[in-house]
Amino acid sequence: MKKTAQIFAGIRTPFYYYDMEILENTARQVKELAEKYRIDVHYATKANEDARIVSLLSEVGFGVDCVSGDEVKLALGCGVPVSKIMFAGVGKSDEEIFEAGIAGIGAINVESVQELYIVNAIAAKYGFVANVCVRVNPNIDAHTFRYVTSGLNTNKFGVSESEFPELVEMLAQCNNVKFRGLHFHIASQIKDIAKVTKTLCGVANRAVEWFAGHGFETEIINLGGGLGVNYENPYGDTFPDFEGWFKAIDENIVRKPGMTIHVEPGRALVAQCGDLITKVLFVKETEVKSFVVVDAGMNNLVRPAFYGAFHLIENLSAEERPSLPSNRVYDVVGPVCESSDTFGKGRQLPLTVRGDLMVVHSAGAYGQAMSMRYTLRPIAQVVYSDRINEAEKETPIL
Ligand SMILES: Cc1ncc(COP(=O)(O)O)c(C=O)c1O
Repeated sequence: MKKTAQIFAGIRTPFYYYDMEILENTARQVKELAEKYRIDVHYATKANEDARIVSLLSEVGFGVDCVSGDEVKLALGCGVPVSKIMFAGVGKSDEEIFEAGIAGIGAINVESVQELYIVNAIAAKYGFVANVCVRVNPNIDAHTFRYVTSGLNTNKFGVSESEFPELVEMLAQCNNVKFRGLHFHIASQIKDIAKVTKTLCGVANRAVEWFAGHGFETEIINLGGGLGVNYENPYGDTFPDFEGWFKAIDENIVRKPGMTIHVEPGRALVAQCGDLITKVLFVKETEVKSFVVVDAGMNNLVRPAFYGAFHLIENLSAEERPSLPSNRVYDVVGPVCESSDTFGKGRQLPLTVRGDLMVVHSAGAYGQAMSMRYTLRPIAQVVYSDRINEAEKETPIL
């Protein structure tokens, strides 16, 4: 549905707007491609934990990748089959391991030899067998932003090649874990996905051989997420190049009989279905700058403050007054008392006035999921495109 100031008039701002049609189209097309290339997609719930989104992606046939005990519970609550739930994370608590293990999820991705020992000890104490994959740190540079790389040996994630002998020794002693395979995830927002995938598949193929040579056959090989999203042009690219990614995997991975290839994209599935809609509180002119102060803050969408991330910003209300100047330059800032609470610097926008509705695009991933109540600011409501009438309305004061 086309976003206009008119359809959003009167809704309490700020709010996340999820276009369920974009989400469903994306999911169906990705499912089709996944079947073509025989790849099993697991949605990384951390990107957006909205229950409707998780349920829709599960109904399309995707599994999930979770990174906390509560994400595992969310997935179970959304009807994701237990065998399709994977659980990664470098610091799982005993309680999280117990609950995921006893539920019989597809795999706990262990990230250290010590974690493997603890998973086995918990499973032995309570009398179950835990499915595990081993998360490997392949020491590959994905040439992305340093805060979102996870596959370098200086990162905290996974087990490095030098630890493999110790790990298989431990595996051999663990009677209460079932080794299911290998897990990799090297970064987020990867631009050169074909090249990076080729390198990763090479490392994965060698690791599979190494484990097989030591008595452990790989049933699942999980190549992680990381496919990048076009934040500059959300209209042109509602759908990132899944085909290029799947093709690169298909061409470079050695498929052994009975082996399943998993991927676990987060942002690529959900970023473009979501926008943050916010209202202009004030337009503030100083002698050096013009600020548009909006009612959403870094507490609602932290990516620009946290990573310096770019989101396209548009003024929806200005579309209704095309005769006014369209070339003003503003810093678009939030209300939080931090200078980093800035959604965009030096943005060229139409003449903007108090009360205008602005859209911050591509906010479906790591938007609401990373929001917080810093300075006790409220969490934004969620408005779904197919339930727009249910949105909470604002109470006018002036
Ligand atoms: C283990 C794991 N899998 C998948 C993802 C999803 O990554 P993306 O949203 O970039 O696809 C992440 C992101 O941090 C992750 O840590």
